[in-house]
Amino acid sequence: MTSNGLPELPPEFLFGTATASYQIEGAVHEGGRGPSIWDTYSHTPGAVDRGETGDVACDHYHRYREDVGLLRELGVDAYRFSIAWPRIQPAGSGPPNPEGLAFYDRLVDELLAAGVAPVATLYHWDLPQALEDEGGWRVRATAERFAEYARIVADRLGDRVTRWITLNEPFCAAFIGHSIGRHAPGTCEGTPALATAHNLLLAHGLATRQLRASAAEHDRSAEVGITLNLDRLVPATGSAEDRAAADRAETLHNRVWLDPLLCGHYPENEAETWGELADGSYRRDGDLEIIGQPLDFVGINYYRPGKVKDAPYDEPDPARRTATDIRVADVPFDGVRHTQMGWPVMPETFTDLLVDVQRRYPNLPPVLITENGSAEPDLDRTGDGRVHDTDRIDYVRSHLEAVADAIKAGVDVRGYFVWSLMDNFEWAFGYDRRFGIVRVDYDTLERIPKDSYYWFRDLVREHAAKR
Ligand code: NOJ
Repeated sequence: MTSNGLPELPPEFLFGTATASYQIEGAVHEGGRGPSIWDTYSHTPGAVDRGETGDVACDHYHRYREDVGLLRELGVDAYRFSIAWPRIQPAGSGPPNPEGLAFYDRLVDELLAAGVAPVATLYHWDLPQALEDEGGWRVRATAERFAEYARIVADRLGDRVTRWITLNEPFCAAFIGHSIGRHAPGTCEGTPALATAHNLLLAHGLATRQLRASAAEHDRSAEVGITLNLDRLVPATGSAEDRAAADRAETLHNRVWLDPLLCGHYPENEAETWGELADGSYRRDGDLEIIGQPLDFVGINYYRPGKVKDAPYDEPDPARRTATDIRVADVPFDGVRHTQMGWPVMPETFTDLLVDVQRRYPNLPPVLITENGSAEPDLDRTGDGRVHDTDRIDYVRSHLEAVADAIKAGVDVRGYFVWSLMDNFEWAFGYDRRFGIVRVDYDTLERIPKDSYYWFRDLVREHAAKR
């Protein structure tokens, strides 16, 4: 900590905030946008709490100027947003939709005029429904379509966007979407879910090639990375069984991505983790080479640790078993505060995660913390019209200190993006889980900066003064 109470971070360290298209844009029937799997899923009765959908969300599609104004005032260096594939290609393939491209053109121009660098994520889970109807991420063709989409976007925005994130949290897209069934498309599958993980990695690799080819052709620079939600997993006890369970969980959450991306191989313990489900039928020779191209950075999203113990299969019949049924059970952490999501607040585990990833993967590229933040109930505005979200401030401050500790321990972390700029559609939980540093009044769509917004603004200013 510095004398003014700020975490000690290198002067060039970047500060930003993050959002995602389906969570904030709304306007799902405007601008020629096609339906995505999240439109289908959120309109499925019982899928999302209270039947909420992203139809209107924060109406960012119409209010993006106001939202960029909030970023300008906040003084952040960068803003991470995602591009909705179904705005660019409403059916997931073929020629681009000019209105879709024009929207992101306007957003990027607005950001640059506000002095905020755009960081664009190409896939934050809103797969065009038409591609799902042809097999979605279970089939390789979707990875090929994704690369075409990436090229269209890079050719158009690459003169102004220089940092690209191919995928956001493929763990959630693959396994919450196709095995746990709590995200779109909402299915509970075995081998096909493992195929989605592979095809997402392939999509990342193919898109990376296109992003770089577009930059080379236009003589532009492009930094390409992928965002992973890495977990810090600890065994409930020191028993050999619980440690083996933690290893399986480590493979499901972390190694399934990091090993192919950074080491050019699949995790050695995948048979131990998935048994016959991991039959490799979805792989081809040469895929690892496509997946393992050098990355300019790795994005890490981190919120909370996990504690696990050995357990029997949930489903004894292997033919009906899902990809996340790996003989592991979660164990709660006692004696610590939990956020509105029910997630334990344990910032020291963030340092542990970063240091451990660096140790396991000595060739780890520079890291951007592409998401970190906390959902808090943010009881209604008090009489003074402000939102006093001290728990969120404590969360962000302590996690930034954890990042500073990891940097001191030798991890090359280059930036930090708060999740989220504003309250938004928290997937299957709908709107009552509030992660924003700006409150959104969903009746009026008014934006109300919370105390955490002003706190973060001051921190960013003081940091900028050190440069
Ligand atoms: C990760 C996801 O990328 C984001 O969409 C989500 O809202 C946050 N975590 C909080 O759960």
